[in-house]
Amino acid sequence: MYIVLLGAPGAGKGTQAALLSEKLKLAHISSGDLFRQALANGTELGKQAKMYMEKGQLVPNEVTIKMVLDRITAPDCKNGIILDGFPRNLEQAGALDKALIETGEKIDHAVYIKVSEAELLSRLTGRWVCRGCQAPYHEISSPPKKAGVCDKCGGQLYQRADDNTQTIKKRLQVFFAETAPLIDYYSKAGKLVEMQGEGSMEEISQRIISGLKTKAKK
Ligand code: AP5
Ligand code: ZN
Repeated sequence: MYIVLLGAPGAGKGTQAALLSEKLKLAHISSGDLFRQALANGTELGKQAKMYMEKGQLVPNEVTIKMVLDRITAPDCKNGIILDGFPRNLEQAGALDKALIETGEKIDHAVYIKVSEAELLSRLTGRWVCRGCQAPYHEISSPPKKAGVCDKCGGQLYQRADDNTQTIKKRLQVFFAETAPLIDYYSKAGKLVEMQGEGSMEEISQRIISGLKTKAKK
């Protein structure tokens, strides 16, 4: 199964992708995490992405598409994938469809997680992320057991440089201008599953799974 998660910054794509990846045994691929890892490793890719990420802009398509299409050929993707943060515009979606067709695969479902702007802002300004395994925490809704330390791997938690109010506003603008057209793109292809993204993380995960089951029966 090949699933795309769509949603504004802070909608819970990373959180839900991690839960779904465990429950459905699919590889979780986050373009944002791939860029942040490259940045932490000081690679050329990381250097190319840094300036765009800090400004809340999209990294150019040629860099992003190549990175993700290379990643999805890895052996752990054989049973299917959950894409979190990619595609983010029509050109990326077209490139993904084309690459999958060449391997006899296709995107089965695109899940759009809808969250109000006020909630997005409060989620992002309170988010802490693990440097080791990238797991997201929130200082109010999902704090770690020990402050500053990841429950899963013991890694150090930090706040992302792009999680400040000014950059969050830019990221939201970019989402509505460039990524929101994908809702229509996947709807026209009969692949869209739309979901209210407010409630507990587990509730939303259940909502997504039952939404996928209902869609698969149609
Ligand atoms: P990326 O890393 O993809 O960031 P994003 O899309 O802005 O999404 P986020 O990671 O901020 O949010 P999320 O939806 O995953 O929410 P999360 O689960 O963490 O991209 C960053 C940058 O990289 C881009 O700006 C761009 O520069 C570049 N980039 C990446 N992909 C690209 C692409 N394809 N093309 C070009 N450039 C690209 O949750 C947020 C918080 O809320 C957490 O604290 C979490 O604990 C909390 N939370 C989650 N669910 C709930 C809930 N149900 N209730 C309460 N709190 C919750
Ligand atoms: Zn961790």
